Amino acid sequence: MAYPYQIKNLDEYQQAYQQSVIDPEGFWAHVADHFYWRRKWDKVLEWDFKQPDVKWFLGGKLNITENCLDRHLGSLGSTPAIIWEPNDPEEHHRVLTYRDLYNKVCQFATVLKNNGVQKGDRVCIYMGMIPELAIAVLACARIGAIHSVVFGGFSAQSIADRIQDAQCSLVITCDGAFRGNKDIPLKSVIDDALMACPSVKKVIVCTRTRTPVSMLKGRDVWWEDEIKQVETLGNPPCPAEEMDAEDMLFILYTSGSTGKPKGVVHTCGGYMVYANYTFVNTFQYQPGEVYFCTADIGWITGHSYILYGPLSAGATTLMFEGIPTWPDAGRLWDITDKYRVNILYTAPTAIRSLMGFGLGPVNHKDLSSLRKLGSVGEPINEEAWQWFKTHIGKDKCPIVDTWWQTETGGIMITPIAGITKEKPGYATLPLPGVQPMLVDENGQEVTGNGVNGNLCIKFPWPGMIRTTYGDHERCRKTYFATYENLYFTGDGCLRDEDGYYRITGRVDDVLNVSGHRIGTAEVENAINMHAGVVESAVVGYPHDIKGQGIYAYVITDRLTHDMELTKKDIIQTVSRIIGPIAKPDKIQFVSGLPKTRSGKIMRRILRKIAEGEMDNLGDTTTLLDPAVVEEIKRGRL
Ligand code: WTA
Repeated sequence: MAYPYQIKNLDEYQQAYQQSVIDPEGFWAHVADHFYWRRKWDKVLEWDFKQPDVKWFLGGKLNITENCLDRHLGSLGSTPAIIWEPNDPEEHHRVLTYRDLYNKVCQFATVLKNNGVQKGDRVCIYMGMIPELAIAVLACARIGAIHSVVFGGFSAQSIADRIQDAQCSLVITCDGAFRGNKDIPLKSVIDDALMACPSVKKVIVCTRTRTPVSMLKGRDVWWEDEIKQVETLGNPPCPAEEMDAEDMLFILYTSGSTGKPKGVVHTCGGYMVYANYTFVNTFQYQPGEVYFCTADIGWITGHSYILYGPLSAGATTLMFEGIPTWPDAGRLWDITDKYRVNILYTAPTAIRSLMGFGLGPVNHKDLSSLRKLGSVGEPINEEAWQWFKTHIGKDKCPIVDTWWQTETGGIMITPIAGITKEKPGYATLPLPGVQPMLVDENGQEVTGNGVNGNLCIKFPWPGMIRTTYGDHERCRKTYFATYENLYFTGDGCLRDEDGYYRITGRVDDVLNVSGHRIGTAEVENAINMHAGVVESAVVGYPHDIKGQGIYAYVITDRLTHDMELTKKDIIQTVSRIIGPIAKPDKIQFVSGLPKTRSGKIMRRILRKIAEGEMDNLGDTTTLLDPAVVEEIKRGRL
């Protein structure tokens, strides 16, 4: 039995769940026993949600890469660890066995050391989806450097904010990245970002697109040249740094309802155990299966379920550089066919956009290797769920609708593939170790079934957020202060008659656009940077493909009259400040915003109007100027 802690049937799930509640420490100690620790922990858990102060496996020493690489070399040395499919189907794919990956990680870890990186240093990684990205991430973990991966779609300004917040000393990037028919000039974006980042001493540039780049003397070096130097020295061994279970493993920035993105911090021991446990159980991974997660490593899904979860389990993980619709909308099905993919984990947005192309791109593709399907990132509507089930899974594959967050580190509420009875649109039941609780506005627990509430978690789990980098108070305020002694997710949730959970969406000012989290305040700040803008308010509205679209209400100084041009300029501004993912879908120019007498924008009203629910705006009597609402209604796009 490859994974002694893998649940095999519903009884076992119930038993494991019970045990995880009655004796959480015993439960997680039993799971953690199946990993390689340099030194075993003294104590399983210490916690206090008030601070918050959460520690798992105290005193334990390990390196996550020894668990993802070294320990597999004996039995899985020649097994594919990463299969890489390039953007262009004509280009050759690559396969890295566990032995190959180990060698390359050690080599690049040596490169990092040669460039002055030490344990505890922060390294920013801004690369496309090539194997070197995985190698860079693992090489950081190998030497105890803290990686901060920034998604390739973010702008120079966003990168600079993240680099400064974490005070990164080194950046790893590429000349460019291929994405569909686009070629994104990563290095040039980094050059712009670094004008405001004095902490960065070195930049390592990996060749991918051959886009011309400028290399700054003394700062910029080529990945390939650095590797050659290590080879010349005969590839000296690169022993893994011994890490404390609670040492930081990585920072990943994510949007909240206020201000700038925050750096969610995960630590070595608990995160490893949790990513692995949830991967092995949710997907019911069996040795030898080919597992394909379509996420980008720039997001938490890529961290936990392309890299750390699968690799720590000795799985074969498929990494894809391109997009689902290029060169055509059959791309994911061609890849499934080509590599005989057994498990496919993707996002509702991708499914909905592919649905739009009809069955042409699916027909005549051999999808018979598929055994399990998964969905993540946003609520999946029933229509998309059924299409996925019928046309991709051919009615024989279970679908796991996995609910979780950057902050949770791994999957929290989900069916267990083939074991939990599924219900379209429902994330169903909590995994062992996860104790959900619904509360009302006043923080009172909502008990029983057939009820709605705000989703909280009342007991720690090993993969949970430890802090927000450099600002622990922000972590406390955002997640632990709304309701006493609870972790607040920011999501609304229904618990139905069967006790099944259905996530209904964010209850705070966070949007979920194509599965990407975007704060409304962030978009407003970006819009307000445009010279002609006086004020703006941003809300989400239902969008057929993206899940949510971005609707912006904007007040301008009225100095220009070409409103179409102003719209384009605003969109361009948002793109430059945050990145193309945050571009508003609709911009409505207004002369005022609905505000309370204390000056607070009543977003509830703006949201309703954007959603088209004009007749049911609720109480507007507290508004400073109720007439403004009528004007906004008339001008709705
Ligand atoms: C949403 C992504 C409904 C939710 C892993 C959450 C979901 C936010 C689901 C986290 C799901 C994620 N059903 N909603 N299965 N999965 N969400 O941090 O609103 O990028 O709070 O993590 O996505 O987004 P994040």
